[in-house]
Amino acid sequence: MRSFATVKKTRQLNHDTFLLCLKSEKIASCAEAGQFVNLKCCDGLDAYLRRPISIHSVNRECNTFDIVFQVRGKGTSLLSRIRPGDEIDVIGPLGRGFTLDHSHRHIVVAGGGIGIFPLFQLLKDHTAAKKTAVLGFRSKDFVVLEDEFKKHSTELLIATDDGSYGIKGFVTDVLEKIIQKEKPDMVYFCGPEVMMKTGVKLLQKYNIPCEVSLEQRMGCGIGACLVCVCKTRKDNDWDYSRICADGPVFKGEDIIFD
Ligand SMILES: Cc1cc2nc3c(=O)[nH]c(=O)nc-3n(C[C@H](O)[C@H](O)[C@H](O)COP(=O)(O)OP(=O)(O)OC[C@H]3O[C@@H](n4cnc5c(N)ncnc54)[C@H](O)[C@@H]3O)c2cc1C
Ligand code: FES
Repeated sequence: MRSFATVKKTRQLNHDTFLLCLKSEKIASCAEAGQFVNLKCCDGLDAYLRRPISIHSVNRECNTFDIVFQVRGKGTSLLSRIRPGDEIDVIGPLGRGFTLDHSHRHIVVAGGGIGIFPLFQLLKDHTAAKKTAVLGFRSKDFVVLEDEFKKHSTELLIATDDGSYGIKGFVTDVLEKIIQKEKPDMVYFCGPEVMMKTGVKLLQKYNIPCEVSLEQRMGCGIGACLVCVCKTRKDNDWDYSRICADGPVFKGEDIIFD
């Protein structure tokens, strides 16, 4: 599954967020919404471990896929300096993506921060007649990809923590208002753990199924090192699941949030 992808395009979306368009027939031909790639950020020993980044968008005709990342530390800082024509050592597509049930007529994607990126391909691939996107950001300066999400959803609601853009408040507050007006068939979450924990609880109250995409520091990215485990329900007990191989997407009801 290891291969080299050629950087076709780079785009800076705001002060610390970058989009890379990568050419790889191997990945673009089979990538599913919610899966990720594990990238080597440089040739040397700097940022030795690969960094996991979600697949944001796939163009199957052109054999390309996009990733979007926020600069956090050494690895993502090195990635932000990559230029068109460079090659990146990539393993992927990895993990279990979102489940798409095309009998669903109304779906909601609810994302916060870097969690909005994997929800984009899901909106592109799902055939539901109504697709609502609720995206949360810290403030106006962090809002990215608004036009792109608008294009692939029937309704886009943006929430900011400080009210500097869109609705003031949390994604889960906006979601509850949507549910009170019209119950969706399915909700997909990706974002900070506290948002997903609140979201899953909320949906259980209204008896609506959901999936969550979890994020965790990773080692191997392929299920071997057990660095990335989370607690999941198994029968009447619980067990550890590997976010990289058993996830990152899980049924909301299966996750035991700490
Ligand atoms: C399945 C998966 C998909 C991801 N998709 C995306 C994406 O689409 N876009 C994006 O911007 N980021 C994504 N991430 C997070 C991304 O992998 C980390 O931000 C990145 O590895 C940080 O590397 P770094 O070398 O820049 O920072 P480091 O120097 O390694 O760390 C900088 C800071 O970030 C924290 N950190 C590092 N990795 C993680 C992590 N995985 N979860 C929480 N905190 C972390 C560290 O504790 C530290 O405080 C994803 C993570 C996973 C597991
Ligand atoms: S990162 Fe090694 S098992 Fe998940």
